[in-house]
Amino acid sequence: MAKRLVSDGVGIVLDVGCGIGRFGAAVRGRLCWLGLDMSPRQLADCTVKPVIRADAVRLPIGNGRVDAVTMLWMLYHLDEPRDAISEARRVLRRGGLLAACASSRTNDPELVPYGYPRTSFDAEEAADIVSDVFGASNVELERWDAPLVQLTDREEVAAYARSHLLPPTVVEAVTPPVTLTKRGCLVWAKRP
Ligand SMILES: C[S@@+](CC[C@H](N)C(=O)[O-])C[C@H]1O[C@@H](n2cnc3c(N)ncnc32)[C@H](O)[C@@H]1O
Repeated sequence: MAKRLVSDGVGIVLDVGCGIGRFGAAVRGRLCWLGLDMSPRQLADCTVKPVIRADAVRLPIGNGRVDAVTMLWMLYHLDEPRDAISEARRVLRRGGLLAACASSRTNDPELVPYGYPRTSFDAEEAADIVSDVFGASNVELERWDAPLVQLTDREEVAAYARSHLLPPTVVEAVTPPVTLTKRGCLVWAKRP
């Protein structure tokens, strides 16, 4: 994602729901990154600056002022993700890019063989939801489905389970080391 934004000559990228700034750290020095999150705790732990505290559905930014908006693993927090996606569209310049990603309900099948519950923004529906705001002809979809995460011991499995709000029983059900199949998608949308 960083490579595409850099090669597209993107200037200002607004990272909505930036958390502790993982994407900002990855693009430091290559993009003009601005983080935004609603959580004071996440912002306090954010390793990259500048950041602003605001709600994704009321961005304190003028129309057409940024070149790209990223919404990485955050839209599922919202009851109505289209509200935040509409805000992203509003602040993007013409031709600017939104990148939004989501996990699949069939993510981590080794730990969750029965599947994750549906959310307001998961990989199964992400492209359709973004298309509702940007128009289907302006939307591209990249999927991933690959063995990407290795958990070497029970502590790592337990930490992963906690961070994904999985019950402790999933930890007992596997024998480490375990390789997790990650499934999800990245949706790109261009502001017409
Ligand atoms: C799972 S974290 C993802 C953080 C980061 N994007 C990443 O990929 O590491 C979701 C983030 O979205 C933020 N968030 C949730 N609802 C929000 C809202 N309405 N406005 C702004 N940020 C929000 C949370 O505070 C949290 O930092």
